[in-house]
Amino acid sequence: MNSNGIILSLAPMAGISDWPMRTLCAEQGCNHTTTEMVSAIGLLTAPKDLNVYKFLLHVGPDEPAPFVQLFGRDPAILADAASYLTSLNRFAGIDINMGCPAPKVTSGGNGSALMRDLPQCEKIIKAVRGATSLPLSIKMRLGWDESSRCAVELAQIAQDCGVNLLTVHGRTRVQQYSGHADWEYVSRVKRAVRIPVLVNGDVTDAQSARDALRISGCDGIAIGRGALGNPFVFKEIDSALKGLPYEPPRLEEVIETALRHSRTMIEWKGERSAVLEMRKHLCWYIRGQRGAAAFRTRITHASSYNEIRDLLAELLDNSSKPIETSL
Ligand SMILES: Cc1cc2nc3c(=O)[nH]c(=O)nc-3n(C[C@H](O)[C@H](O)[C@H](O)COP(=O)(O)O)c2cc1C
Repeated sequence: MNSNGIILSLAPMAGISDWPMRTLCAEQGCNHTTTEMVSAIGLLTAPKDLNVYKFLLHVGPDEPAPFVQLFGRDPAILADAASYLTSLNRFAGIDINMGCPAPKVTSGGNGSALMRDLPQCEKIIKAVRGATSLPLSIKMRLGWDESSRCAVELAQIAQDCGVNLLTVHGRTRVQQYSGHADWEYVSRVKRAVRIPVLVNGDVTDAQSARDALRISGCDGIAIGRGALGNPFVFKEIDSALKGLPYEPPRLEEVIETALRHSRTMIEWKGERSAVLEMRKHLCWYIRGQRGAAAFRTRITHASSYNEIRDLLAELLDNSSKPIETSL
């Protein structure tokens, strides 16, 4: 936790919140992280050396231990998966995904589909609570749709079953990512329980962080999309909450971070896969910069670290040239 007592969390994001990303965010003041979601049944049935799980469960050498997020619907399977993850001795806690809106997750009754079945949620939470002594958290939405907002009830069930922390994305499943996160509704969850609650949805900078905390009354913030290509958002928010001045990073620093991110990924996954995965991150890093559109087109053909480095050097070079005007 930061000195001002606010939890600044990197929200779990499939395909994004791996250990290099978590480490970069932690360097900037993020003090709570979660892995990408991991299928409980997949984890238990896949061969233990399957690369996909090795990668999903990898914890970096310099990062604070993350929570690991599980998704599933069967209490016994989730409990077995939680017990296995606990035995790995590398995670700070277990998070249960009750908020994912993706059809491939909800069609099996997982993720946010669980919010349509609170008795099932209770069985899951009790089973997982019984299977691990690690801190347990739940990530949820407001409910399935407008007519079935049940985040307050689920939060109370979770607290009664011994859950230690809640993250509430202020949208329903039907909303997906449309409209605005309803931080005021999240305040009802916060007021209904004694355990810490993180407000989630649409926090992207110091101002939105202050507003989300003030309106929700929560103990911290979970940031997802606002951290894409911008791990610096944690420092911006941390500084604002402590009343300290904040200088946004210069383009040189952004590029240095993007290159470091790329090198870490390459050391971990090999150049071929890492460069493919880094393409999206690199586009996020240089968003809003002069020449970003051309960069996006060219980076889709990059297949080596040297190409990434040269393209970023060119972007930096062009950014300092005067804008050409024609008569
Ligand atoms: C690319 C992407 C992947 C995500 N993957 C997960 C996930 O694995 N588990 C989860 O609970 N939420 C996942 N989410 C939801 C985020 O954790 C977060 O709740 C949502 O993006 C709203 O927060 P934001 O406005 O700060 O982005 C994902 C979101 C995005 C954009």
